[in-house]
This record gives sequence, C-alpha cells and structure tokens, in this order.
Amino acid sequence: MTLSTTGTGARIAAPRTTVPFTPSSPLTAPTPNSTGRVTFPDGFVWGTATAAYQVEGAASEDGRADSIWDVFARIPGAVVNGDDGAVACDHYHRFREDVALMRELNLDAYRFSTSWARIMPDGRTLNPAGLDFYSRLVDELLAADVLPWLTLYHWDLPQALEDRGGWPERDTAYRFADYATAVHDALGDRVKVWTTLNEPWCSAFLGYTSGAHAPGRKSPELGLAAAHHLMLGHGLAVEALRERDPEASLGLTLNFTVSDPVDPTNPADVDAARRDDGMFNRIFLDPILRGAYPQDILDDVAHLGLTDHVRPGDLEIISTPIDVLGVNYYNGGAVAATPQSDGTPEGTAGPDGAREPATSGPVWETLSPNPVPDGVHPHSRGLPTTDMGWEVQPEGLTRLLTRIQRDYTGPRGTALFVTENGAAYPDVVEADGSVDDQDRLDFVDRHLRAVRDAIDAGVDVRGYFAWSLMDNFEWALGYSKRFGITRVDYETQERTVKASGRWYADVAGDNAVPARNE
Ligand code: GCO
Repeated sequence: MTLSTTGTGARIAAPRTTVPFTPSSPLTAPTPNSTGRVTFPDGFVWGTATAAYQVEGAASEDGRADSIWDVFARIPGAVVNGDDGAVACDHYHRFREDVALMRELNLDAYRFSTSWARIMPDGRTLNPAGLDFYSRLVDELLAADVLPWLTLYHWDLPQALEDRGGWPERDTAYRFADYATAVHDALGDRVKVWTTLNEPWCSAFLGYTSGAHAPGRKSPELGLAAAHHLMLGHGLAVEALRERDPEASLGLTLNFTVSDPVDPTNPADVDAARRDDGMFNRIFLDPILRGAYPQDILDDVAHLGLTDHVRPGDLEIISTPIDVLGVNYYNGGAVAATPQSDGTPEGTAGPDGAREPATSGPVWETLSPNPVPDGVHPHSRGLPTTDMGWEVQPEGLTRLLTRIQRDYTGPRGTALFVTENGAAYPDVVEADGSVDDQDRLDFVDRHLRAVRDAIDAGVDVRGYFAWSLMDNFEWALGYSKRFGITRVDYETQERTVKASGRWYADVAGDNAVPARNE
C-alpha cells in the first residue's frame, strides 16, 4: 500500500517559545461516537506493533551480542520470574508465519523495531548476517502488502555502548546516527517510514533514574543526561536520513500521560500536574517540536545538571522537522501535591514500570522515574484497571491528541499516528484453545472511538497500531503480562488469534468499528 504521511508545511522552522501547562477537564458526556458504528477516514492505517527484544528471541544467533536488556535480565530479581528475551516469541525464525498472520488480520502495517546489537554487536561494526534478518522480514512484509513501519531503537542499546557510558554519554548519540544510516543503507530502498526512538521517556527515566528497566542505573542526573542525548541522537538520525531520502516519512514515537490535578481548584495540585506533565510530556515535546526545553522544567531541574549537556546547536538538531509523531497512550493520571490519604494505593501515571513484587527471591529496588518527584503524587480515581494496574481512561486519548495537534504538531503539519495502545488482561484459555478476551476487545473499541472523537475535533490522526500483535516479553514483568491480540503458547510457540484479534481484523477490513452490543 502507499502511505501519505507528509503534511503541508512539514519543514517550517520551530518557534522558539514554549507552551504553558493548562489543565483540561475530563470529557464526561457521551459523544456521538460512543455506541454506534464508527467509520474512519479513507486510507486510515490499521496496524499492530512489536519490538525486537520482546518478540525475536535468537539472542545469540548470527553474531548478535548482548544488549542492555540481556544483561539486565541476568540481575537477580530485576525481571519477574527471572524471565528474559532469549527465546521470546521466536519471531526471528517464525516471521513468515507471523506475516501470514498479519494478512489474516487484514493489517495494513507492521510496526517493528530493529535490534542494534544484532546489526552492530559492538555498537559500531556492521554485522551483515544480523542486518539480513530485517531485509528478509521487509521483503516478506512487502510481498504480503503490509507496510513496514520501522523503529530504530526500542530500548535495546548494545551492552558494548553501555560499557562506554550508555545514553548519559554524548558519543552514544553519534553512534546512533551511524547505526541509523547503516540500516538505511540496507533497507532504505524498501522501507519508507522510519521512526528513530520509541518512548525515550522510558529509556531515560526508567533506565537511568528509576532503575526499573535496563540498564538499571538509578540517578536523576543520569536520566536527564540520557534524555538529552537520546533526543540528540534522534535529531542527528533524522538529519542524516532526510538527506538520503527526502521522500521518506521520518519521526519518532513518544509515550504520554494526561496529567489531571486531583483538585483543579487547588493551586498546589495544579502545580503537581504541571510538573508531572512537564517531566513526562513536555520535556520531549518542546525540544523536538518547538526547539526549546520548557522553562519551568529547566527551573525545576536546575540543580541536576541538564543544561551542562546542552551544547550550542543541539536544539536545532533536535528540532529538525519530522513528518510523523507516534503517540503511545495507555492511560493518564490524577496527581496531587499530597499523597492519597484514604489508604488506596497510589495510582500509576502511565507505563512507569509499576510492578507487583516478585513472589519469592531477591527484590530489585527501584526509585521514582521522576528526577524531581517530591510533591507529585499519583492518586487512584477508582476507574477500572487493566492487569498492569493502569486505569482505563479512553477519553484521555481524545484530549491528548487534541492538545498535541493544537500546541505542537498542527502548526508544523506533522501527522499523528497512535503507534501503541492496548491492554494486558489475565486471559483464560477455553478447552478448545480459544481466548474470549472481551475485556481487551472493549478496551480497544473504546479507544478507537476516542480516536474518532479526536478526528471529529479536527485532529490529523492517520492510523492506529494495536499493542501488540502477540503476547510477548513485557520487560521487567517478563511473560507474566499478556498484551497480545494473538495468544502465544510459550511452550509450543503456537499462535491463536484471540476474540479481540478477530474483531480487530474485521475493523481493519471494514475501516470501521461496529456498533457496540449494549
Ligand atoms: C511501552 C513499550 C512496549 C510495552 C507496552 C506495554 O509502551 O512500554 O513501547 O514495549 O510492552 O507499552 O507496556
């Protein structure tokens, strides 16, 4: 299929102003899209997403070396049940079967990531055998008429580069740009959508501040340095790829929260929401789309050395125009200046590594991913939650998309795609092997209606990728959480499309969400 992702005016210069935080109110009234059949614009892209370390396996085949996740998974207690991605879904060997599955699901696009440690085991030297896997995958996708949507970095830094300092080191950004151009040399003739990073918030702050994710370092200063260098690497890669292929669609994927003050009339809660939004959303949105760090965040982190890493010209590179912004949304969060006092456990403000304690064995201690966490307390709102403990909040997606377009992407003509949305639920396998996951189906249904609400409000959303094509390695939670619209039996590697997957195939085939049975 062909894909038009370049909006008019995609190349205009970034304004040098930042946008203040303004809390918005939850959308409580049902919308016209709440129950009936809902259609999507012609050409809307229906996809699913995965990531290399979560699905590929083949961790030491064809010259692949350790990434930070292979090493992190060996730390006792770091990953639930001591799980790792050594075999995962064996996608490396089963990609043909998996592409056939995508066809069966009527998918237009497959969002996958390339493993830097497979392509450059030492972080710098090309390993043709590793690169070749992606060439085979791309050919298979194109033969099946599935658009390859390539992400260059989904959290799996080669350990060799971590040994030299990892993302807190400026040099890693330049190594990333070299890696990006090497992958482009091999696949640029066939791959036309390139996103650099997936969720740099997680790479920086779960990886280097909280320690919940690889490489498991725990320092506010390191997290901020990593965030800057991740964005620098993104900008350098976009510059290089743009020069090679001016027609390609380039961008990145960020993960977002929607920060609501618990009491919107209390200035302290509004300030907690401002800081939460700033450290989660605006610390990436503003440099990348407006060419400047938000001043309030610079003030909040003034003692943590972020600006020591910012050299003249960095923000111009970081704000190199992009064509597509991938939006990953799971939920928003209510935050207050004080902890929840009614004994309810604090809610989670997004995919922040919140996890149940391991049932036995060593416990890996983690810190807050927020470099300045004092006085920012997530509160539960009593909404239904998924198996991750994340509140189900579809209307947050409408507000998020509307706000991003208004304040960031709209003025620059950057198109929005929801590159991840989905839910973990404790699936029950019936005697006949089927999985009737009405909870996941309902989750996706409601979020697609929320996307349609945003489109109706004038937002330029051009596609949706369900997370995930299949159950896979859920990072520090190992295989204990299932996000797939397809079940994976990890003993046999058998794939079984769940009820949500069959439903999603109909949605993709009809370009419409059917009326809800209520
Ligand atoms: C993320 C990642 C995915 C996760 C998914 C569920 O958003 O954390 O991009 O790799 O698996 O989000 O947590």
